[in-house]
Amino acid sequence: MNFHTRKWVKPEDLNANGTLFGGALLRWIDEEAAIYAILQMGNHRAVTKMMSEINFVSSAMQGDMIEMGLKATRFGRTSVTMRAEVRNMITRQLILTIEKIVFVSLDADGKPVPHGYTDITYDRDRMPTRLPNAES
Ligand SMILES: CC(C)(COP(=O)(O)OP(=O)(O)OC[C@H]1O[C@@H](n2cnc3c(N)ncnc32)[C@H](O)[C@@H]1OP(=O)(O)O)[C@@H](O)C(=O)NCCC(=O)NCCS
Repeated sequence: MNFHTRKWVKPEDLNANGTLFGGALLRWIDEEAAIYAILQMGNHRAVTKMMSEINFVSSAMQGDMIEMGLKATRFGRTSVTMRAEVRNMITRQLILTIEKIVFVSLDADGKPVPHGYTDITYDRDRMPTRLPNAES
């Protein structure tokens, strides 16, 4: 699993209990997964289709530095499935796990379109070169 994005838990990210708000963490993970899916499927038009059970394993506190990891576990015809982990950067303690996050590759009409890939790239060779609204 590759850990890319790091976050610093700030006051605006907290819940009433004074710990990291789950909604803030899910927003970060969804964005991280979107970028990962775009790079794996080579298409800017990638949308979240499904998230399986989300396990908030332990809390994060204000001032904690956390890192988010993703790994593609299945390449379908139009989709990619990923596993996610979030952990404390210093202690490596797990904060969250999600077994399955599914993203679907779409065409300009919002319909699923085959991405043509069967395995993980660790490079940027599939990076889409044109933005969706620039395509005809
Ligand atoms: C994404 C969307 C176009 C897919 O439509 P659909 O009718 O389910 O399309 P399909 O049945 O052809 O399935 C497309 C892919 O999703 C997968 N899929 C569909 N439902 C799934 C589910 N419940 N769990 C896991 N994968 C699923 C299919 O297996 C298929 O993958 P594959 O081609 O790799 O085998 C449609 O559901 C949609 O627009 N959803 C909203 C997406 C969105 O706005 N996300 C942001 C959330 S706020």
